[in-house]
Amino acid sequence: MDFQQVFGKPSETKASAPGRVNLLGEHTDYNDGFVLPTAIPQCTTVQLGFSSDSQHHFYSENLNEQVSISDINRNPSGFASYIFGCIEVLQKAGYTIPSLCVYVQSSVPIGSGLSSSAALEVATLRAVRQLLKLPIDDIEIAQFAQQAEIHYAGVQCGIMDQMASSLADTEHILFLDTRTLERRVMPLPEKAEILVIDSGVPRTLASSGYNQRRAECEEAARSLGVKALRDITGTEVTEKLPEPLRRRARHVVTEDNRVLEVLQGVSSERFGELMNASHASLRDDYEVSVPALDTLVELLQKTPGVFGARLTGAGFGGASVALVAAGEARSIATHVLEQYKQAGYIGQILVPSLELSDAA
Ligand code: GLA
Repeated sequence: MDFQQVFGKPSETKASAPGRVNLLGEHTDYNDGFVLPTAIPQCTTVQLGFSSDSQHHFYSENLNEQVSISDINRNPSGFASYIFGCIEVLQKAGYTIPSLCVYVQSSVPIGSGLSSSAALEVATLRAVRQLLKLPIDDIEIAQFAQQAEIHYAGVQCGIMDQMASSLADTEHILFLDTRTLERRVMPLPEKAEILVIDSGVPRTLASSGYNQRRAECEEAARSLGVKALRDITGTEVTEKLPEPLRRRARHVVTEDNRVLEVLQGVSSERFGELMNASHASLRDDYEVSVPALDTLVELLQKTPGVFGARLTGAGFGGASVALVAAGEARSIATHVLEQYKQAGYIGQILVPSLELSDAA
């Protein structure tokens, strides 16, 4: 079913936005810290038209599901909550948004930690900006998208995903200071490419565990008398905290330092070592890994041609990211997925995207 078939008329405009994979700097953004994401080739496309009644109508091609927002349904769940959240956030900022027909199609994997929700939010906001010629820049798009996620999807997220979806491309890494929003676009490490493999284990407890980690970090910052953990530079200070705040804060401080080291310019080998250290810290100090991800990351780390590997995104399941020798991602993935299967798990390569390159 296309837009015309669903809504009985052609669309007025369309816009897309990519998912993202974070290479380093995990669980640092809500601590005002530093992140290093890049866009992935998979993206979400939103087509828009004006609704002929007073209701918004949303259609997801992937789910083959239509949701209408009426006075008795102003609290949608699932994909509709992100779209409605974006519209509501724009209205609250003073823009008048008419009733819309919204058609969504996405190739961003859902539930793998690659920000399918940010891609949907940013694509929706871009399409609305285009349709109504709103004077909003790409940073404001990311900020509105983050507000939609926090207030309508219920995740107390930082701004990394929405900034990455709004500003990053697939050829570069986006260094972002999440406090000042200062950015630097950097080349990918030399003679390397990115390999993303899904662990096959869906993210469970992701939003409750995530919100809990965030609360622990805020408590740690309060105890240390700083605005956010970003203001701590050495682990001597965090060692004084009681458990589990001590390990949570140690992760954030060491992770920020790893990102700052990359900013100085490092080899692919060193970048890989920092990714390995990040995984150990997320597993042991931050406790957001799961056995399947640990197995997958370990298999990647000991495969020749892999500079380094770690879980990516919030954790609690989802995908791994590895930095590997250029041109070797697919053969490494085949080798690792075979061993992963022997360990009892079924994983899947997500980047480089098999589907997108087959279609090209
Ligand atoms: C999720 C959130 C981000 C970030 C990561 C962890 O993707 O949406 O804001 O906190 O987890 O780094």
